[in-house]
Amino acid sequence: MPSEPGRATTSNSATVRLQKALAAAGLGSRRACEELITAGRVEVDGVVVTELGRRVDPAVAVVRVDGARVNIRPDLVYLALNKPRGMLSAMSDARGRPTVGDLVADRPQRLFHIGRLDADTEGLLLLTNDGELAHRLTHPSFGIPKTYLAEIPAPVRPEVGKRLRRGISLDGRNVEVDAFRVVQRDGDRAMVEIVLHEGRKHVVRRLLAAVGHPVTRLVRTEVGGVRLAGQRSGTLRELTREELAGLHHLIDTPAVPAKSRPKIGA
Ligand code: URA
Repeated sequence: MPSEPGRATTSNSATVRLQKALAAAGLGSRRACEELITAGRVEVDGVVVTELGRRVDPAVAVVRVDGARVNIRPDLVYLALNKPRGMLSAMSDARGRPTVGDLVADRPQRLFHIGRLDADTEGLLLLTNDGELAHRLTHPSFGIPKTYLAEIPAPVRPEVGKRLRRGISLDGRNVEVDAFRVVQRDGDRAMVEIVLHEGRKHVVRRLLAAVGHPVTRLVRTEVGGVRLAGQRSGTLRELTREELAGLHHLIDTPAVPAKSRPKIGA
């Protein structure tokens, strides 16, 4: 079975027993992982493996359990940050302004952020040292959905959602939102949720300004199924196995062109 595009097929690093690699990845004890293997629930490079002697090279093998991708490379790190307002999406800044890099400076891995948020935008920013995953998550062809909460002036007329779903011309291209809803109204302010798969600069602020609702606060709450939930501002956490498998599912399966996806609430 071929390995994935862009992945090396050989490596000099040592091979390990499959059950050991699975146990190290948090799938349970070695005994429990052996049972996963003999039950036919484990695939290596697209082929179900049921024998226990199998060795894999963690640097190149693509391992799935029950169809969900498992990270067996202990050197790869996947973090979710709740970026505070005022912090730059950069690993360093020549002018000494606070950056997300400051939060991971003492880690041994060379991490980088996946995409960026404006300095004034808060919320979910993923960090990793997995260049391939980062590349795919930011590549427009994968159209990874991202969800934002924006504070805007109220009232918000129903036509606003319709216009945003139909699309707004930005930089000469029509940008459509996948979903839009008013979450809360408080006096002359409204909180709206907007889902889109475009990664352009200031895209949410520009879209909402174009429909007469300049943003006063913007928070990214979700990227490709990874949610901010109750994570405190300025904190980092490791992605769960399920979250990482979900991201791999989005980038490993042939992409449904973002344009043909059904529009939520249309
Ligand atoms: N859209 C914006 O306007 N700003 C961000 O930071 C992200 C999306």
